[in-house]
Amino acid sequence: MSVNKEIKRITTHTLQEMKNRGERIAMLTAYDYSMAAIVDNAGMDCILVGDSASNVMAGHETTLPITLDQMIYHASSVVRAASRALVIVDLPFGTYQGNSKEALASAVRIMKESGAHAIKLEGGIEIAESVSRILTAGIPVMGHLGLTPQSIYKFGTYTVRAKEEAEAAKLKADALKLQELGCFGVVLEKIPAKLAKEVTESLAIPTIGIGAGQHCDGQVLVIHDMLGINKGFKPRFLRQYSNLFDVMNGAIENYVGDVKAKSFPSEKEEY
Ligand code: KIV
Repeated sequence: MSVNKEIKRITTHTLQEMKNRGERIAMLTAYDYSMAAIVDNAGMDCILVGDSASNVMAGHETTLPITLDQMIYHASSVVRAASRALVIVDLPFGTYQGNSKEALASAVRIMKESGAHAIKLEGGIEIAESVSRILTAGIPVMGHLGLTPQSIYKFGTYTVRAKEEAEAAKLKADALKLQELGCFGVVLEKIPAKLAKEVTESLAIPTIGIGAGQHCDGQVLVIHDMLGINKGFKPRFLRQYSNLFDVMNGAIENYVGDVKAKSFPSEKEEY
């Protein structure tokens, strides 16, 4: 399907209209100006400044160490590049779970200091008060259910969530709660496709899947994974659209070779 790049700015209302007419929503992460400019130019609907920046930008094992200041830095770089996409920013671990006042203060900082358009946070009924308070300030909120990486030490592994009935039932209730509170969408991460289909059909608001099958209203991937920059990371749900690790490595090896061989710079490349 061709992308309408003429749309001025995607809003949360545009996303709702897309769900209503059955048009899939494309979302990808970005964390810096140059990458976000390419993503935006390609016709992306939403750019997620994910706390996966902690992994792919900073090299941490989990998303837990990234700070609010660091997320604001990444988000403001992305916002400067995005002229079409809706920019959604993750509230990092420890900045919203304590109480709803703290959650609102964190969300306000992101909106004020980065110029982003919406925030995302992980969890369901247990963070309802925080979600409500952020929404009352007029800040659009996206939920995130299923595998929620900020709780990795509770789960213990990154395997598929909600395979058992009790967890699936809680996830369905959480999704309805997030919708009732006023979230404009919800990310469903690494859950069975059948469950994601049921949730998607039960909600009026869009679901965005990652490892949640083909029935979600949209899809999101981490850009480093889909471009093949993370060489060893190949989970079943990931479609790798390029092999940038090898492409970049080859170019850089050529540069090193040229410098060593004294063939760069040539006379044509000097003043
Ligand atoms: O941080 C992130 O990149 C995310 C996506 C995996 C949904 O939350």
